[in-house]
Amino acid sequence: MLMVHFTPPPVLTTARLRLEPLGPEHVEGTWIGLQNPESMRLTGTHGQFRRPQIESWLAGLAATDGRADWAIILTSDGSHIGEVVLNDYDADNSSLGFRIALNADSRFGHGYGTEATRAVVGHAFDVIGVHRISLEVYAFNPRAQRAYEKCGFRVEGRLRDALRWNGEWIDAVVMGMLATDPRS
Ligand SMILES: CC(C)(COP(=O)(O)OP(=O)(O)OC[C@H]1O[C@@H](n2cnc3c(N)ncnc32)[C@H](O)[C@@H]1OP(=O)(O)O)[C@@H](O)C(=O)NCCC(=O)NCCS
Repeated sequence: MLMVHFTPPPVLTTARLRLEPLGPEHVEGTWIGLQNPESMRLTGTHGQFRRPQIESWLAGLAATDGRADWAIILTSDGSHIGEVVLNDYDADNSSLGFRIALNADSRFGHGYGTEATRAVVGHAFDVIGVHRISLEVYAFNPRAQRAYEKCGFRVEGRLRDALRWNGEWIDAVVMGMLATDPRS
């Protein structure tokens, strides 16, 4: 097992994106995402946030170990289009959790999510050196499930009625990927 240092995460670059450590300078894009009803629904995020809460959360990230948060930046124009996170580090079991959200509907479906996920999965396995990455995706989010499958995640199970959204029960699909799995 490699030494694990999460904070600050390194800048990761892909063909169209720069993933940079999420911090106070990303408050505007983060705020936009938290106002987006579709992102909130698809991530099952209940409740509303106030801007000072966001500012204080972003300011605290640099001192929070055991997770790595990146802002997703579109290289072509520098816009902040979302965030991607490795969290829930479990040293005993060499595992991490994963989450991602683009902050506007207009950003969905252009391959950005897949591109960012591939980069972060590569970082988790090749640099941090974990054995496993886990995530959950709600059953009403086939686009996210497909993006994860393209990166090498496999469906491992289902949590029935894990989310109550507008009075409806929604299952969560459990997905996971091991360092030894094909990356696609
Ligand atoms: C989930 C998310 C990160 C995916 O990123 P993205 O850039 O939109 O997705 P991509 O364009 O990389 O890939 C989407 C894939 O799903 C497919 N897809 C889209 N809608 C689909 C549907 N209804 N059913 C099945 N597949 C679908 C696309 O065709 C594409 O696959 P392909 O390349 O094989 O054609 C992004 O949509 C997002 O942030 N959504 C809002 C928040 C969210 O859902 N976060 C994840 C919570 S688990």
